[in-house]
Amino acid sequence: MQITKGEELYRGKAKTVFHTNDATKLILEFRNDTSAFDGEKIEKLERKGEVNNKFNHFIMQQLENAGIKTQVESMLTDTQSVVKKLSMIPLECVVRNFAAGSLCRRLGIEEGIALNPTTFEFFLKNDALHDPMVNESHALAFDWATQAQIDRMKAITFDVNEVLTPLFRKGNMLLVDYKLEFGVSHDGEIVLGDEFTPDGCRLWDADTKKKLDKDRFRQGLGSVVESYIEIADRIGLSI
Ligand code: TMP
Ligand code: ASP
Repeated sequence: MQITKGEELYRGKAKTVFHTNDATKLILEFRNDTSAFDGEKIEKLERKGEVNNKFNHFIMQQLENAGIKTQVESMLTDTQSVVKKLSMIPLECVVRNFAAGSLCRRLGIEEGIALNPTTFEFFLKNDALHDPMVNESHALAFDWATQAQIDRMKAITFDVNEVLTPLFRKGNMLLVDYKLEFGVSHDGEIVLGDEFTPDGCRLWDADTKKKLDKDRFRQGLGSVVESYIEIADRIGLSI
């Protein structure tokens, strides 16, 4: 069936979700809007929607090839992808291989320290509260997820590290940390949703430690989309 775009379902800070003519599918549109600090800083960056849509499609394909179920079905246009409809769980799953960002701020730790073992954190998806860190007992007490869903999200988030760390390493980059979001499919399965793009992870050049991800935008370092395209190039994706 030819998928066509229907009514808008949800407009996030950087993506818009649309219904389609198929009740089991949605369209994710990647916009040029780039947001940081829970929507405090928002700018339109030319071509970012296209770059992130193509980047996300490529990464999700790599994950599917490694046996990880994702929401992505196909790329519809340069900025839009067809995805399975999921009931999203309002938790962000963060794995860190090296210390950066909020971990350094929270614990006074020096940026760049290798974390062994790799750490896992949950954050509640809530801009008004600035995405507070929460734990498993909060998730259970407030019915954000069941224990089985929590266990599955954690396991898949670590599985993603096994696939993507070597992929980026081949491009001489360190996968410092990343954030994943999951949803529940119509048959009750936990499926990787949302996106994996340089907007939601940290990637550094392995030698110079140059920041190549959205920290360029957060910290006003410039050349944001150019850097995303460079990341793609380095992993063999020409955008
Ligand atoms: P943090 O250091 O700010 O906690 O972020 C850890 C990683 O998760 C980093 O790669 C950015 C990503 N992230 C998001 O993309 N969105 C978010 O809302 C949060 C909290 C983190
Ligand atoms: N939470 C995202 C970030 O800064 C986007 C935003 O907060 O506006 O990574």
